[in-house]
Amino acid sequence: MPAMKIDGTPTRTLRADPERRVIEIIDQTRLPLELCWLRVDTLAAAARAIGEMQVRGAPLIGATAAYGLALALAGDAADARLDEAVAILGATRPTAVNLRWALARMRQKLSPLAPAQREAAAWAEAAAIAEEDVAQNRAIGEHGRELLCRLPPRRAGVLHVMTHCNAGWLATVDYGTALAPVYAAHDSGLAVHVWVSETRPRNQGLLTTWELAQHGVPHTVIVDNAAGLLLRQQRVDAVITGADRIAANGDVANKVGTYLKALACADNGVPFYVAAPRPTFDFACPDGEAIPIEERDGDELRQIQGRDAAGRPSTLWQLPPGAAVGNPAFDVTPARLITALITERGVSPASRAGLRTLYPEAGHD
Ligand code: MRU
Repeated sequence: MPAMKIDGTPTRTLRADPERRVIEIIDQTRLPLELCWLRVDTLAAAARAIGEMQVRGAPLIGATAAYGLALALAGDAADARLDEAVAILGATRPTAVNLRWALARMRQKLSPLAPAQREAAAWAEAAAIAEEDVAQNRAIGEHGRELLCRLPPRRAGVLHVMTHCNAGWLATVDYGTALAPVYAAHDSGLAVHVWVSETRPRNQGLLTTWELAQHGVPHTVIVDNAAGLLLRQQRVDAVITGADRIAANGDVANKVGTYLKALACADNGVPFYVAAPRPTFDFACPDGEAIPIEERDGDELRQIQGRDAAGRPSTLWQLPPGAAVGNPAFDVTPARLITALITERGVSPASRAGLRTLYPEAGHD
């Protein structure tokens, strides 16, 4: 499976330059209106990039946090600085467990070392995390492709896949999770079309359309509330989403609205898959009830982004400042609604037994 491309050039979403102590990320708050690379060279800038969702998506949050820790250790890699940096980065977003996983792995690697060795080791470990993400997502793509190729298309030889949010290339270092099978299937010649759910309030679906367009995959954007109708009309062969955290019993936290799609799939006999790599599994978390759900700033809902009449990116208020809003960013889909999990180790039932078989070496509760 070839790497993802922007304008035909293989590109990753994160570039690291340890010599210059800088990483470059795509500022996702400006996509799809503008493609802007952003230099991040301090702990504060890395924490801001994650908190303000300049980078987003569970795997990319984890990789960025790992590099953020490397940036933090420039000039001071004593225990106190390490602890401070882990605390600052760890407080940025609560639901995606990849963040906590990456920071724990970095700390485990760095703590036993002498402070003078830590900065170089941090850059190397962050690079290893990023490389593993790429390899895991490529493998998810292959397992998911096999699964998609076995599904009988319901309409005119084209397989219609629906997705929610952005769990694609932009949400990872490369390939994506939910979209990796779609890219692999498309690349292998399967006719695929993607229904892209807009994903209010931050419209990550528009990121999905941008990257599907870059890769030449046919797609159509729908408002979130159209998903039920399309599923009922049998115009969807499968739904695939990503995950921010998968509990030990197979319950999945993902972008708010995922649960409603899973419910509508169950009511209409459409398979509902969740694609995720090992760092998204939290075996210490017994079930979905224990997953913290991020509540984000209400202005995300009060405002909308777009272009003004002159074509300039701009922000409009659709509700007055201070209007009462609730903005939970994630929801939990119970394991019983999930047809299967697609992981780098293969396809598995979303159940305690399935996860034990998939990752026997992990400490299961
Ligand atoms: O709030 P976001 O945009 O970071 O949420 C992203 C999602 O919910 C994704 O589906 C999830 O992180 C999986 S990304 C491969």
